[in-house]
Amino acid sequence: MPPTVLVTSRSFSSGDVDVRSQLIAAGVHLVTGPTHHRLPELQHLLSGAVAWIAGTGPITASHIDAAPSLRLIARYGVGVDSVDLEAARRRNLPVTNTPGANSAAVAEHTIALLLAALRMVTLGDRGVRSGDWGVSRTRELRSLTIGIVGFGRIGRRVARALSGFGSTIIAHDPLVSGAELREAGVQPVSFGEVAARSDIVSLHLPGNEPLVDRAWLRECHQGLILVNTARASLVDESALALALAERHLSAYAADTLSSENGDERSPLLAESLQDRTIFTPHCAAQTIEAVDSMGQSATTAVLAVLRGDEPANVVN
Ligand SMILES: NC(=O)c1ccc[n+]([C@@H]2O[C@H](COP(=O)([O-])OP(=O)(O)OC[C@H]3O[C@@H](n4cnc5c(N)ncnc54)[C@H](O)[C@@H]3O)[C@@H](O)[C@H]2O)c1
Repeated sequence: MPPTVLVTSRSFSSGDVDVRSQLIAAGVHLVTGPTHHRLPELQHLLSGAVAWIAGTGPITASHIDAAPSLRLIARYGVGVDSVDLEAARRRNLPVTNTPGANSAAVAEHTIALLLAALRMVTLGDRGVRSGDWGVSRTRELRSLTIGIVGFGRIGRRVARALSGFGSTIIAHDPLVSGAELREAGVQPVSFGEVAARSDIVSLHLPGNEPLVDRAWLRECHQGLILVNTARASLVDESALALALAERHLSAYAADTLSSENGDERSPLLAESLQDRTIFTPHCAAQTIEAVDSMGQSATTAVLAVLRGDEPANVVN
């Protein structure tokens, strides 16, 4: 029987590189499942799968239990916050990701969201379509302080791009030394200082607890713009919706929302906040280059495991 590989990532093999054919040429039987990973719909596909090229939906202990033949979870992307790594470790099941494959794509999308929020691009577009040519005064990036939270692959690229606009850049990352941050032309600060000093904050850290909570939002600069291309779970969306409603924050631009996997509708989607929010459908990594690179990295990991080799980029 050919080994079955389950794919639940929506963009797998949709770029220039035909990674699907690489797997088929290696004798793989490919099956596709829903990106939201709801167990009732995935169960029968998981039951025979040897490897899983997985999207951003949750991967729980129950998913792993439903897949007795599974030998690899290859996360197609960087974040592994949605994977129960401990449950995988108990089964001796390697979990890999594709570090760096989408950093440029996500950094560029971050700059797009940041500028769209600052220059009120979507608001202006809606205005013009309804015959309203009214304008609001804004600022230039060279006058602003930008706080980067998480100075990893993506955060660094965003900082580098923003330095070209002449912004003052401050950053918080407990795992990067002050010396390294200063060498990158960035001032190291605490998370509290990011709130107090930034005009714009951009999040680039793994998602786990809501760092952006009521208390942190209270410390923020009046009129702050928050950009989130990392994870919705980093933000207390109710507290943020309130801060936007009170105009304590001026805008939120995000590529991620709590409701993206079909959960309850996010309070940030309220119509009354439409002029202060911009959302994109978790598409920051959806460039041809990133899709090719994530697809090749995940495919290489699957082929390694099928050959009996250790895959690269194991995270657990
Ligand atoms: N929107 C998308 O499509 C998309 C695509 C790729 C990655 N992402 C998300 O972007 C984030 C960053 O990705 P990356 O490739 O730069 O990852 P990375 O691992 O290279 O960098 C993450 C950085 O966050 C830092 N960090 C960890 N905890 C922190 C904390 N409490 N405060 C501040 N910094 C902290 C780490 O030290 C690390 O330097 C990830 O959460 C990932 O899920 C989103």
